[in-house]
Amino acid sequence: MFKTGLLLFSSIFAVALSSCGKVTHKPGEYILDLDYKSDYRILQLTDIHFGDKDDLEKHFKFMDLTIDESKPDLIVVTGDLFTFASKTTAKRLFSYLDSKGAKWTVCFGNHDEQTYFSVDWLTSYLNKYGSNCVFKDFQDDDMQGNSNFAINLKKGDDIFEQLFIMDSNRYNYGDYQGYDYFKEEQIKWYSDVVDYTTEQNAGEVVPSLMFYHIPLPEIDDAWDKAQAGDPEAVLVYGEKGEAACPPTYNSLFFKTILEKQSTTGMYFGHDHLNNFIVNYKGIDFAYGIKSTDRIYFSEKMMGGRTIVLHDDHSVSYEHHYHTYEEVK
Ligand SMILES: [Fe+2]
Repeated sequence: MFKTGLLLFSSIFAVALSSCGKVTHKPGEYILDLDYKSDYRILQLTDIHFGDKDDLEKHFKFMDLTIDESKPDLIVVTGDLFTFASKTTAKRLFSYLDSKGAKWTVCFGNHDEQTYFSVDWLTSYLNKYGSNCVFKDFQDDDMQGNSNFAINLKKGDDIFEQLFIMDSNRYNYGDYQGYDYFKEEQIKWYSDVVDYTTEQNAGEVVPSLMFYHIPLPEIDDAWDKAQAGDPEAVLVYGEKGEAACPPTYNSLFFKTILEKQSTTGMYFGHDHLNNFIVNYKGIDFAYGIKSTDRIYFSEKMMGGRTIVLHDDHSVSYEHHYHTYEEVK
């Protein structure tokens, strides 16, 4: 009886451990591979905000204008895919993206929890999607967020460029109420992946681009300095149509990004009326171009942006603007 009791206790203890314990994965486990080719075309779409009441066929026709013009190798949707969407609506968006023939991936935005499903369901659905979808998030790991991974663009066996896809999280209800921020373990993860990739690349840092949803708090300094003619910030493109809405708290992710000397461009969405790009301390801070007219929008600021990655690791931009008049 004692032996049976001990076995029962051990089993309960093991179950408790497995259900509470988070798993630490190695940096390399978070990295997916794609083939690089010269002048690699990455189309950033953002803030689609599909809900169940929307005429999706009309929006797909609208998005076709941008995607067909871009002819992307990879589509990255930088968050706020949904607002009040059911699983059916979510599946229709993913099926549409998959039908375009390019590889595609997404990160999540603050609104992606205001849906008739959980962000965990979304993550799990994309983890299993396959086909042209390039997505991987460990749901059992010790890191906050549901879209934290990297993609190596490879030239044969060599890593040419790395793309970070990260979750800037949703809302903070702690010491302040507002948009959430990158957590300490996410910043460490980024740093670990850069180090791991440097090691894989014979000690040489691999250049990277980063995609996420909510701009970092430095966005205001970047814009203000560019306006003031400060040499630390140069306006590359576009305009500011609304105040930036970054997190109130600065978790100093940008400090680590500067220290690691890998990332040269950061691409995000969130503020629908901004499309500017400022080169700030040597790194492009770039708002995307909102990709539908859902929620709030500017008639002259809808479409997307192609980031063309060249053989010397420089990028050039192609901006796509369309109106719903074109799909009437
Ligand atoms: Fe949005």
